[in-house]
Amino acid sequence: MTMTLTKTDENVERVMLSEEEIGRRVREVAAQLDRLYENRRPLVVCILKGSVIFFSDLIRSMKTPLEIDFMAVSSYGTGTESGRLKVTKDLTTDISGRDVLIVEDIIDSGNTLYHLKKLLNSRAPSSVNIVTLLDKPERREVPMEPEYTCFVIEDEFVVGYGMDYAEEYRNLPYIGVLKRSVYEK
Ligand code: PRP
Repeated sequence: MTMTLTKTDENVERVMLSEEEIGRRVREVAAQLDRLYENRRPLVVCILKGSVIFFSDLIRSMKTPLEIDFMAVSSYGTGTESGRLKVTKDLTTDISGRDVLIVEDIIDSGNTLYHLKKLLNSRAPSSVNIVTLLDKPERREVPMEPEYTCFVIEDEFVVGYGMDYAEEYRNLPYIGVLKRSVYEK
């Protein structure tokens, strides 16, 4: 086996998940999704922007015929408040009667997906499942259990592989822990 030496950004404290580790796990989860969606042609939804890298690796590892669409949202407040989801870019596909797979990069408080799942369910899809790259269960404020999780992680500030701090670091090929000095200025 060849090991790739990863050059970390100077603002990254340590590599939490290497490109190789992520790739292996994404292929495993893609195979599980292939089994779930056999003969069902799911609509796979990328939640912008953080999910974009995970989404493109995941769908390229999936073999089942599928369609894709994109959505951009942000949440305000807790899950008990209604209407706290701002949709800045909606789907272009009619999802009624469709099998929808939501692809997220990270679940933190759970608020975004709590509201998003409610919104999509109101459009009468046949099913809605969630696959997340990362889950931080200890941060949860509302009940939110994704059907598929690549990695459960500790509550640390992670960047890379799509995830940002102030819109930077999304293009790092690995997931790293950001140095505290960067965001505690
Ligand atoms: C992140 C992430 C989720 C949400 C999770 O998005 O992609 O959508 O936060 O947090 P929650 O569980 O506490 O609701 P972010 O708002 O950072 O936008 P981005 O993906 O465009 O970076």
